[in-house]
Amino acid sequence: MADWSEIEALKRIPLTKLFADDPERLGKYSADVAGIHFDWSKTHLTDEAIKAFEKLAKASDLAGKREALFSGQVINVTEDRAVTHTAERGEGDKDDVAKAQALHARMRALIDAIEAEALGPIRNILHVGIGGSALGPDLLIDALGRESNRYEVAIVSNVDGLALEEAFKRFDPSATLLAIASKTFTTTETMLNAESVIEWMQAGGVEDPYGRVVALTADPDKAIEWGVDETRVLPFADTVGGRYSLWSSIGFPAAMALGWDAFSELLEGAAEMDRHFRLSALHENVPALAAFADLLYTQAFGCETRGVFCYDERLRLLPSYLQQLEMESNGKGTTIDGKKVGRPTAPITWGGVGTDQQHAVFQLLHQGTHLVPLEFIGVIEQADTLSEDHHKTLLNSMFAQGAALMKGRENPDDLARAYPGDRPSTTLLLDELDPRTLGALIAYHEHRVFVSGVLLGINSFDQFGVELGKEMAKAAAKGGGDFDVSTQDLIKRAFG
Ligand code: F6P
Repeated sequence: MADWSEIEALKRIPLTKLFADDPERLGKYSADVAGIHFDWSKTHLTDEAIKAFEKLAKASDLAGKREALFSGQVINVTEDRAVTHTAERGEGDKDDVAKAQALHARMRALIDAIEAEALGPIRNILHVGIGGSALGPDLLIDALGRESNRYEVAIVSNVDGLALEEAFKRFDPSATLLAIASKTFTTTETMLNAESVIEWMQAGGVEDPYGRVVALTADPDKAIEWGVDETRVLPFADTVGGRYSLWSSIGFPAAMALGWDAFSELLEGAAEMDRHFRLSALHENVPALAAFADLLYTQAFGCETRGVFCYDERLRLLPSYLQQLEMESNGKGTTIDGKKVGRPTAPITWGGVGTDQQHAVFQLLHQGTHLVPLEFIGVIEQADTLSEDHHKTLLNSMFAQGAALMKGRENPDDLARAYPGDRPSTTLLLDELDPRTLGALIAYHEHRVFVSGVLLGINSFDQFGVELGKEMAKAAAKGGGDFDVSTQDLIKRAFG
């Protein structure tokens, strides 16, 4: 049983004092890995805190569990599965890596065939999927595909028909490929959306709409049963979790839109972070240090949330992606051996586009009563072609926020205009945003979540919390279900 008492007893030393007391602080609490600069110096991490976390990591056998992850052992015990998303990028047990590479080769061959117009002239890709089967590809295409004119892609997750109708307005049914992304191939929203796309194609005069479907799934038999030709089923291993699946065939629309070279560079960037995570000592291991900072705030300083603010338009979808990664992985109340956790687990993860949010929610971050550790993410290289004023204003805003939150400003005569300061932030600066750095950035967050999960003693790889609601929605759809009076009334009002 891990002992948290040393961590719970850690005192919050003001950030400005930490800097004043240690001229080496910046160098000690920053690192450069895989084209990303990490700066934790404006967090309350101290040498004492890191030592306490290293002790906890030892007691939790973090090193052993990290090795179990990479060597394909069954660490998702509640589902009796290994966890092999790192094998998708070439890091892991050699059989898992070989399997992943064979499936990637299959995906690449299908992409080549589609490019050679084996399925007719395809210009549009309509990808239906939800959660981990949508957020990853959506992020990749939005972040990296702005200059690409290979295919037009719509990622539709919402079962609200308006979402599909928007794509229908943009796309020509005879030039559209339907990609059905579902690990289980049973998800209600996705399957209903897929059926409606087939109907739209039929209504648009496509003679063999099923001939234009690609399935991205860990259950190929279900996809074949649904009507997808076996040659167009792109399987992935069921040991790859939904929220860790963008590296597998779930990344198909991104590989189509960005090209295979970009997709393989994405995998390479993630692999570089994997190697760093697997081989570095904890005191210089960036995902581990990030997790230590996260746990310091949730376990010692009572923080319930964590904010991620991206100062780069191309990363605007990253906070939503990270929400699922963090909250579905570590939003647990039970330990891996089936007991109550007895302490806070994942911080509620939220955030958005930095500059926009400054003018909307940063009031609370500067003066509100909550302490919210923040993560700022920016990119050094300017991507737009406008005057450099844009990029300078953007990055200076980010730097100024971190500084202002830390420094604060006293104003004893006018508290409404006083800033308490001592509010922590981590800053990540990417040299540039390309497939490699994005791959490394996402892998960094995956491993950070893993470290927190191990130290908290929970299973980061199941998600039973989502099942009860799904079950009750199915019962409601059938006109049954054991509903309370309020819910019965709502159902009656909606459907009579
Ligand atoms: O309901 C949650 C969830 O199972 C996520 O874990 C997953 O990413 C998403 O739904 C979609 O599931 P699937 O890929 O099986 O359709």
